[in-house]
Amino acid sequence: MSPVHRLWRARGREPRRDRDDRAGVHRPGPVRGLGRRHPDPELDLRRRHRGRDARRGRERRGRRHADQPRHDGAHTGHRRGARGAPLHGQAGRDQVPARHADRPAEPRRRQQAGQGPAGLEPQDEVHRRPPPDDRLVLRDQGPRRRARILRTDAHGARRDQGAGRHGQALVTALPSVSVVGLGKLGACIAACFADKGFEVVGSDVSSHTVELVNQGRPPVTEPGLPEMLARSRGRLRATQDAGEAVHATDATFIVVPTPSNDEGGFSISYVIDAARSIGRALRDKKGYHLVVLTSTVLPGSTEYGMVPVLEQESGKRCGEDFGVCYSPEFIALGQVIRDFLNPEFLLIGEFDARSGEKLSAIYKSVCDNDPSVARMSLVNAELTKISVNAYVTMRISFANMVAALSEQLPGGDVDTVTGALGFDTRIGSRYLKGAVAYGGPCFPRDNQALAYLARQLGQKASLAEAVHAFNESTNQRLAERVLELVPEGGSVAVLGLSYKPDSNVIEEAAGFLLVRSLVEAGARVTVHDPMAMDAVRQVLGDSIAYASGVADAVQGKDVVVIANPDRAYAGLDLASIPRSTVVVDAWRMLRKQAAAAAAPNYIGLGLGEDNQRLARALAGMWTDPAGARS
Ligand SMILES: NC(=O)c1ccc[n+]([C@@H]2O[C@H](COP(=O)([O-])OP(=O)(O)OC[C@H]3O[C@@H](n4cnc5c(N)ncnc54)[C@H](O)[C@@H]3O)[C@@H](O)[C@H]2O)c1
Repeated sequence: MSPVHRLWRARGREPRRDRDDRAGVHRPGPVRGLGRRHPDPELDLRRRHRGRDARRGRERRGRRHADQPRHDGAHTGHRRGARGAPLHGQAGRDQVPARHADRPAEPRRRQQAGQGPAGLEPQDEVHRRPPPDDRLVLRDQGPRRRARILRTDAHGARRDQGAGRHGQALVTALPSVSVVGLGKLGACIAACFADKGFEVVGSDVSSHTVELVNQGRPPVTEPGLPEMLARSRGRLRATQDAGEAVHATDATFIVVPTPSNDEGGFSISYVIDAARSIGRALRDKKGYHLVVLTSTVLPGSTEYGMVPVLEQESGKRCGEDFGVCYSPEFIALGQVIRDFLNPEFLLIGEFDARSGEKLSAIYKSVCDNDPSVARMSLVNAELTKISVNAYVTMRISFANMVAALSEQLPGGDVDTVTGALGFDTRIGSRYLKGAVAYGGPCFPRDNQALAYLARQLGQKASLAEAVHAFNESTNQRLAERVLELVPEGGSVAVLGLSYKPDSNVIEEAAGFLLVRSLVEAGARVTVHDPMAMDAVRQVLGDSIAYASGVADAVQGKDVVVIANPDRAYAGLDLASIPRSTVVVDAWRMLRKQAAAAAAPNYIGLGLGEDNQRLARALAGMWTDPAGARS
């Protein structure tokens, strides 16, 4: 090793060629055997999996992901305090082991060819999935066991592949799954699995939720969920007893809340509660069980928070008797079912390869599309999840900054600018619509969690903190802009209260926050939202008026604000609104209509008027820099 290399390593900065713990995101070649299928499905199957299993057979049991610290030789208690206590917050910090304390002193080297399944490849990989018509569920497949095959079609119908060549029946069976936590995400996940033919047992601490699911009724509001639950009756049941759900199934998904704490981290207390119940059930359960944590958590939560509880409660070892994955979802409320069935990619953090393979196989038989699968260590997957959301918040904020600048330029147009930015392949066009501040149950808190993580790890959190601060200022700016337009004692209608269309969630939603600011400032406010009125009523009660429809909301108001891009507002007819009413369109949905009608009472946010005032201000930047802003 060169002296420079040694120095770099001492500072934790190994040269790239020697680092194998980075997510080696690449797409390996086609799955073995693809394109050369044997007419006999059984033989074809053997060809695909023979080599891999023969190599892995001996190593598989008990092997953890190569990118994770080892338990070997160190009792898990060495690395934490009271098992299961939440990791985050000041108390939780003390439980976090010294960084890399139990990692091997030498950086792991790439395997020599032939030594392991991945040959010369790093462990963190993106696997390209076989096309949907080749989806196979391989269950209990081991080196000496005949694979049991099931093919699913796009609608989940199960088709028996018939008897094998040697007269042995190929058993058709999907693994059964349990879902612990039947809330906004969990109820949809359970319904999707059941709809695709899985036997599903849901579990929730809420007796009301359990009752609803058992009646085939949705416990949460989500498009498509009622129909799916109705279709799935007979394959989906619910219980309050998580242990019963575990006993009855092969794999358990944990989808319980992970609320933010005061410092911005996520509490895993609900996860720990669920893990206790699951662990106790595993104690006397025969056979291998896979536990998948789906809730959003911070790095370390799965390995140092959940796994020890499962091991302690079950008296068994992770990687031997049961497997663990961290596999969060990237879904948006209002389209949870569509997003779950058609993920852009699947993120699988795996305790060991066996866990990851099991989960990949489960996903293969539930997804409608053919996403890439990113398999990696638990900690990398945990970081990936919050990084994705935090990155998106940065893009949204960037576009909002461009919108704010556009408004100050004569003829400025955020759509023109971001449209052009989107042509640059380094940037792309998604989430680049300058409009309102981001909100909802995930973006704001995930971004703050990344900042929290950075602070805890002694790193600079300023990037995530700046995004958060800018987002808050975007909400303030909108309120100030609207208040400027409201005359003394005037009235405002706010259209769109949820954080996005087709959702009733108002958490951190720009429309809802605007209403609150306007009420605090003394304005008379009327609101409308297709789905979120009840949620707002619960918070703001009689301090505002609730319109029965869009026309009712708009009538006789001094200012109308469109705060979310619901299609109900795209159809608003500007001609029917009196000129005395100012329409503030944060999403510029009516801009073409306004331009065609030359409506003077229309303000599209992110658009700078082509007027003398703005032109003078801009010119002043060059002729009179000091006076330009006055
Ligand atoms: N909702 C989203 O848009 C979204 C998106 C991505 C990720 N997530 C993550 O998914 C997780 C769940 O979110 P959600 O929105 O579905 O939460 P939710 O509050 O809607 O639902 C959670 C459910 O878990 C139940 N529960 C709590 N403790 C339990 C226990 N010990 N055993 C069984 N059930 C229990 C609750 O009764 C509730 O029904 C969170 O970590 C969240 O960050 C949510």
